Amino acid sequence: MTSDRVEKLLSRLTLEEKISLVHGDVDPDGMATGYVPPNDRLGIPSFSMIDGPLGVRAGDGSPSTAFPASISLAAAWDPSLAHEVGEAMASEARARDQDVLLAPGFNLIRVPQCGRSFEYYSEDPHLNSRIAVGTVDGIQDGGVAACAKHFAVNNQEHARMEDNAIVDERPLHELYLRAFEAVVKEADVASLMAAYNRVNGTHATENRELLTDILKEDWGFEGFVVSDWWATTDGPSAARAGLDLDMPGVTLPELAPDMNPAYRLIDTFSRFSWFSTDDATKLITSLIGLRPSECRVYRSEKFDESLREAIEDGRLGESILDEKVARILGQMERFGVLDDDMPDGEANVPAHHELSRRVAERGTVLLHNDDTLPLDPATLDDIALIGPHADEAKTGGGGSSEVATDSTVSPLDGIRYRVGEDASLTFEAGVAPLAEMDDRDITVWNLSLSTIADSYFGSEEESPDVDMDAAVEAAEDADVAVVVVQDAASEDYDRPLTLPGRQDELVSAVADVAEETVVVLKTAGPVEMPWLDDVEAVLEAWYPGQEDGRSLASVLFGDADPSGRLPVTFGSRARDYPANTQRQYPGIDRDVTYEEGIFVGYRHFDRVETDPLFPFGHGLSYADFEYSDVAVSLDESTATVEVTVENVSDRDGYEVVQVYLGAVDPDVERPPRELAAFESLELAAGEQQTVSLSVDERAFAYYDADQSGWVVDAGEYEVAVGRSSREIVHSETVELE
Ligand code: NOJ
Repeated sequence: MTSDRVEKLLSRLTLEEKISLVHGDVDPDGMATGYVPPNDRLGIPSFSMIDGPLGVRAGDGSPSTAFPASISLAAAWDPSLAHEVGEAMASEARARDQDVLLAPGFNLIRVPQCGRSFEYYSEDPHLNSRIAVGTVDGIQDGGVAACAKHFAVNNQEHARMEDNAIVDERPLHELYLRAFEAVVKEADVASLMAAYNRVNGTHATENRELLTDILKEDWGFEGFVVSDWWATTDGPSAARAGLDLDMPGVTLPELAPDMNPAYRLIDTFSRFSWFSTDDATKLITSLIGLRPSECRVYRSEKFDESLREAIEDGRLGESILDEKVARILGQMERFGVLDDDMPDGEANVPAHHELSRRVAERGTVLLHNDDTLPLDPATLDDIALIGPHADEAKTGGGGSSEVATDSTVSPLDGIRYRVGEDASLTFEAGVAPLAEMDDRDITVWNLSLSTIADSYFGSEEESPDVDMDAAVEAAEDADVAVVVVQDAASEDYDRPLTLPGRQDELVSAVADVAEETVVVLKTAGPVEMPWLDDVEAVLEAWYPGQEDGRSLASVLFGDADPSGRLPVTFGSRARDYPANTQRQYPGIDRDVTYEEGIFVGYRHFDRVETDPLFPFGHGLSYADFEYSDVAVSLDESTATVEVTVENVSDRDGYEVVQVYLGAVDPDVERPPRELAAFESLELAAGEQQTVSLSVDERAFAYYDADQSGWVVDAGEYEVAVGRSSREIVHSETVELE
């Protein structure tokens, strides 16, 4: 519904002015990631958008709070925590005068190799939806417009600008669109970002089925769709398909002239009169091996020149442009931008650092524990801390989500501070550090130079100063060895499922000699653990953000319960995952065929009865819990599950109650069980709580492509209450009429 005010503005805007409202430009303050300039004649203020989603990435480099990776937030299984993070990030965005936060990102984690899995939430559409809605609500309650990304089916980084995701309607709706639908319908999200990839043959930015038929017509989305940066391939056809705003609207060199080595060469070449800029661009980009799609960053005018021409020669109706402007102005009005009436905010403040620490603790998953954790400093004389980056905080992954921060706590500092004088602490790197992230930053937005990725993932550089023997010796002399190992995932590259460099070798060498070995993983997602049987405990800390060392120390020493549960399945090896053929991943000739259909993540492991290394939903606690009095009732097609959970230990802890639903003898193929509801409970020692979880109609439904809609079949359903997808404590059958 367009307001009178927006209608009035629209009627006074000239064609030229309208066009300038549907594409970006350079922010004169250098702060925004995307910037729509003001219209001074009609008093329309500028509209600024900033990356997200692990914190605010200020264009001028000013420090922000680096929150834990999104996958860590999802691992807390707590939408209210997601709301808190959303609100805090909104406040940081406001402190930088930004109107839109380019967050959250929640493409389903279809393949564990996805280089941005740290920026996303889960392999499960229900968990994904709940965390996404929590975050969007938080951002928007904080007075900032959220931008849900990347719409849609952008599940891998490999060749992301060319890949074509070939996906059937049923998995599209049941898995890949579910959380987007939820943020549109439940959180009234202000904007969505159209992805780089193609979906069933058509670029997401030009995909009418996605942008108009499903999003705007079926779901009733009233906000605007912005392109991912340089994702618009063809202006008029994207405009017709439903894209509203083209970003960044300028070329990469215009946006970041100093940071662009390729551009410097283009610029130098085009100074010679016999080279046009176009020729120079072609020459240089082919020399450095840029794929044609990546060259898009050197051309703009998608929603500028090309729209004007299409409107003037009648190929595009001006009413289409009007609708886009109305959508953008509508959200500017809704969030107070038109009145310059946005809330103030605070960036990089202690309260947000505290929240960052709390999320890191809540998201840490205790995968395995032979009663070694928590550590007790009073009973330990010597602790060996080992790992190539154990003296640095892992604030995030690479790419557009990188946040500049001015205060970090490394594992070394966090543990040192926590043990104080109680125990001696020895630190050894063990193996050389992974190549520096800076090597890759020279390519702005990480859009080029794949050779840099090779050197990056190519692991460590041999350095004479790093000695595995010294680490082994330290481990041998200590009461416990804590080995911190990590990967280095980034936007624009997929990730291997093995730890980079010689880190596996390091863990094994330490485990061979240490009395007790605790492995701390800081990874974007699952990795293989060839040494698992030889170590006493494993924690998955993901990318913990700036408070890394503090959260790690509190979990290691039991000040906090490691309350995370896996939002993704950890398989033993790459071939165990559902997309295990080349056609499925990474694809052949750019076609990525989603042949596994609805069987993604644990749905696949359950169907083929493969044991995962650690199942979806798994996570230990330092406390012990008992379940009792489970009662399942049915009211039409909504089930209610009541369950009492008691903390029967002498320490406080968190338990995540998980409800799974499975159709018994279904007429259509369905996963053996699917997450239908969950609740994270904080239970003090000895405390008992009764919770009531609601399993709504959608949980019983499947998407029927023939009817283009959701269908609930009558029949028997198994309702299972569990501590993970593979640890069911109670199950019963209900009959749906
Ligand atoms: C590309 C990324 O895919 C997107 O998430 C980000 O918001 C934009 N670049 C802007 O940095």
